[in-house]
Amino acid sequence: MNKPNNLKTRIFLDGGIPEETKEAIRILGFLDGQTTNPTLITKHPSFLACQEKGGKCSELDGWKYYKEIVSEISPFVKDGSVSIEVYADLITKTEDMIAKGEELFGWIPNAHVKLPITTEGLKAAEALVSQGIRVNMTLCFSQEQAAAVFAATRGAKKGDVFISPFVGRLDDRGENGMSLIENIINMYTIGDGHVEVLVASVRSMDHFLRSLQLKADIITSPFKILKEWKDMGMPIPKDDYQYKINNLKDIPYQELDLSKGWQEFNISHDLTDKGIERFSKDWNALITR
Ligand code: E4P
Repeated sequence: MNKPNNLKTRIFLDGGIPEETKEAIRILGFLDGQTTNPTLITKHPSFLACQEKGGKCSELDGWKYYKEIVSEISPFVKDGSVSIEVYADLITKTEDMIAKGEELFGWIPNAHVKLPITTEGLKAAEALVSQGIRVNMTLCFSQEQAAAVFAATRGAKKGDVFISPFVGRLDDRGENGMSLIENIINMYTIGDGHVEVLVASVRSMDHFLRSLQLKADIITSPFKILKEWKDMGMPIPKDDYQYKINNLKDIPYQELDLSKGWQEFNISHDLTDKGIERFSKDWNALITR
């Protein structure tokens, strides 16, 4: 089966196992990129081998395995992108994120460096983008965060900046994550298009189809959902497709001025803090720091 002609959205795999990337390409016939994160990457057998030996990996080995994994994935999506995440906990400094971001970007030719949308992460993004380093701003849960990413990366080339709003984690607490995607896409239509919306934390076929209907720039999806989509014949929903909101609470659209400085937006969100805690906890469970 070929890539559908009317597919406007790029399709990424969300995972950390190169065999899965190969399999996704085999079943779909194409793949536009991949996203990784500390939780996904530490599921790779290299990390689990340390655990089986009764301990943790050294920090040096942890980054070595991460590099080996993304180096294996990179050529499978050579015209696309592989997102690699910096280590960040709630006290990580901007300078450390910049240094790590520069290092990760040098690992493979098609990297996007993932940084959290916090004050430190946005400062790091500003510095990295000014050096021509591609970034993927992660753990997005609000439209104000998306406005701040737009402002902090102004001047970047289209394709160099992704923003990753996490749909499933908003749904998990009763808020309609897909309405955030819709709001960000609408807000960005008045901008210059330099930030691409990458739908993340995709949990269901409905998330996937609604993202296609909204013509999101990119969806990153677990293998299971890509397979389900393939088995359905890779449909692209028409205008009459109705996304089921069930009992989820709508997230209202906010009128925000994208010409403001990023510091003027309220970027704090408890789910961003919780996400940082979860990613760092999963990494630190296997790595001695
Ligand atoms: C991808 O970039 C994200 O890290 C990922 O989609 C998060 O998914 P989760 O909310 O299921 O952990």
